Amino acid sequence: MDNEVRAIIDSLEHEKKISADRLRYIFMCDDDDTKEYLFQTARRTAQQNFKNEVYIRGLVEFTNFCKNDCYYCGIRCGNAKADRYRLTEEEILSCCDLGDELGFRTFVLQGGEDPYFTDERICHIVKAIKEKHPSCAVTLSIGEKSYESYKKYYDAGADRYLLRHETADPEHYSKLHPAGMSCENRKKCLHDLKEIGYQVGCGIMVGSPYQTIDNIYEDIVFMQELQPHMIGIGPFIAHKDTPFGNEPDGSVDHTLKLLAVLRLLFPKVLLPATTALGTADVMGREKGILAGANVLMPNLSPTNVRGKYLLYDGKICTGDEAAECNMCLRRRVERIGYHIAEGRGDHPDFTDCYRSF
Ligand code: SAM
Ligand code: FES
Repeated sequence: MDNEVRAIIDSLEHEKKISADRLRYIFMCDDDDTKEYLFQTARRTAQQNFKNEVYIRGLVEFTNFCKNDCYYCGIRCGNAKADRYRLTEEEILSCCDLGDELGFRTFVLQGGEDPYFTDERICHIVKAIKEKHPSCAVTLSIGEKSYESYKKYYDAGADRYLLRHETADPEHYSKLHPAGMSCENRKKCLHDLKEIGYQVGCGIMVGSPYQTIDNIYEDIVFMQELQPHMIGIGPFIAHKDTPFGNEPDGSVDHTLKLLAVLRLLFPKVLLPATTALGTADVMGREKGILAGANVLMPNLSPTNVRGKYLLYDGKICTGDEAAECNMCLRRRVERIGYHIAEGRGDHPDFTDCYRSF
């Protein structure tokens, strides 16, 4: 056991504080016993707050059109090879119907920033889902919008919003995005969403090009200030038809360590074991849960479009039916001693938060 790192883990657990140097020590630690100690400590914290329950969200990837050109992303507008699609409102609703039958009580509508989906269309879709499935939560993940747009979606019934900040450092942000997109606006969007009343998720890719450990420390400082309800992190994975096609993938080891660190710093936060983690390592999602994660977001998108929402190479589950993915995940979770929770899986501060429309 590396006693220096062990002491850092103990103080993380008790004081809920970290410095850039301490984070560096954890990232550099290669001792298996110490790493297991970190994961075990984070796991215990997750269990104190969520028992052995894993929350599930059904992901509906409803459009891969995007007006943005983020250098890392496979569905950026500059990727002429992307095979574009958008689901109709009926198709989105039938994904939710199927999800409801499979036991999902949260639907996440995710897509590129697609101008076809005007505020009016988004509100119509949100209302229709809420009407058919009043006990379900609707999460939106459709990028940067104005305060007014976010407010309209909220008033239409959207409960939560996921918008990874990608990096809290403006200089790093400018290396990942073209001019015209700014770190400042992304952060403002997150503050707007919180002010409106959403349960909000931010997050980063671990190992994105040019990222340093100091950047990740800055991300943590930003998260401590924002106090998000969810933090989505997964490894960066290169997509061959993007400017970062030849960049190395992010490390699974670093992703698991960061999950554990975040669990210790934010004991009640919702922490997904992401599809990217499951793509980078066949047992990635299980390892994520065992490092303190407590959310899974399987895909509910129709099989004929799944292979088209390709943010990165090698994405898992692109050929599977939703029902198969559901069964497979339930089995995987049970195999490691956990079970899928029933219900919406709100953040602990948002229990009894049913809003009526
Ligand atoms: N358009 C919405 C937005 O900007 O938030 C949602 C869709 S966007 C594709 C969802 C997330 O996918 C991004 O926030 C990013 O962190 C992640 N992502 C994109 N490309 C990725 C890659 N190559 N590897 C891993 N994650 C990636
Ligand atoms: Fe828009 Fe990735 S560039 S979703």
